[in-house]
Amino acid sequence: MADMRSQERLQKRPRSPENVKVRVLIKFFSPGGGGRRKKRRARVRRPAPLQIRSYKLLKKLGQGSFGNVMLASFIKSNQLVAIKIMKKRPEIMEEHHALRIAEGSPFLCHAYAAFQSEMKAFFVLEYASGGNLEALMENGRFSSSAVMFYAAEIVCGLQYLHSKGIVHRDIKPANILLDGHGHIKICDFGFAVHNMFGERTTRGLVGTYGYMAPEVMLMEEYNAAVDWWSLGVILYRMATGRSPFYNGRVRTMVKESTISEKPKYPEWLSGRLRNLLKKLLKKNPLHRLGTNGNIRKHPFFASVDWVELERQRLKPPIQPQVPSSENLGASSEELSLSLENGYSNINILQEFSFLNPTWQEYAVG
Ligand code: ADE
Repeated sequence: MADMRSQERLQKRPRSPENVKVRVLIKFFSPGGGGRRKKRRARVRRPAPLQIRSYKLLKKLGQGSFGNVMLASFIKSNQLVAIKIMKKRPEIMEEHHALRIAEGSPFLCHAYAAFQSEMKAFFVLEYASGGNLEALMENGRFSSSAVMFYAAEIVCGLQYLHSKGIVHRDIKPANILLDGHGHIKICDFGFAVHNMFGERTTRGLVGTYGYMAPEVMLMEEYNAAVDWWSLGVILYRMATGRSPFYNGRVRTMVKESTISEKPKYPEWLSGRLRNLLKKLLKKNPLHRLGTNGNIRKHPFFASVDWVELERQRLKPPIQPQVPSSENLGASSEELSLSLENGYSNINILQEFSFLNPTWQEYAVG
């Protein structure tokens, strides 16, 4: 850390907006009176990981809530990261808060750093190189043991979030990533709401149609049970290859089907899995497993060693292929530069920037 700072001081950098010079206006009155206003400049250098020009942007990974996610490499160490680039908006602090909390669970996508320029806000995230469940589902339905593995890891991630008062509100296959070993990482906390302890509820049509619980669509008050509903839809899709409800383009039909239809369960589905799905897809959130009852004790999970699973010691059903360097895409310096659109002391999101000390120490050096 000390080394890095002294190195930075030695390197003479060209002036650029990212080499931040924050001008601080200090009002003071001269001893002779007269109330003259003087300008004083304070030079604030941001460490390399907190400047977009320290990253080579490689390709677009996807579009999350409120922004694009890019694959990038941190130039100093060549480490691959995912950078979420967003417009600034006050609600971003909910996502920021959730990401800080996420550090406590291996089943949640972690952030290494957050920083901002005048117009944009950036999250530097761990890169989950194994793709996501949406992509895996394109290969057809999953074996029962694969459903059990992914379901159990998602249960751990969700229970951790909920224990910290956070409801995700956008649990869907595209937000369930796989790391390089095949373990799950729940990502995109852009719709998360916090402080949801005890009996607290919230409102708002938030999430993705097809995975949204009936009470959300009905604009009722709701709680963490909405995430368990979404898990039910995901498990149904993994197990059967289809959605439990109509999930086409017509939103009113998605809503109607979600609110009033009963899913059909194929004959060949095991009794335990069918029972689990029925309990997660309860229309009444008060009766829904997850918030009502201990999901870990459900017979579908009878063979899961939860202690080993929480330590990520169980073998994932699929070992993702390491992406080859050709698939990483060409670097886009132009894009990187276009994002360097200044940093000033206007339009600053207070308490937004952070640098994960562990990353600073090990990856950045
Ligand atoms: N898509 C969105 N976030 C991602 C991440 N952290 N890693 C890989 N792909 C992503």
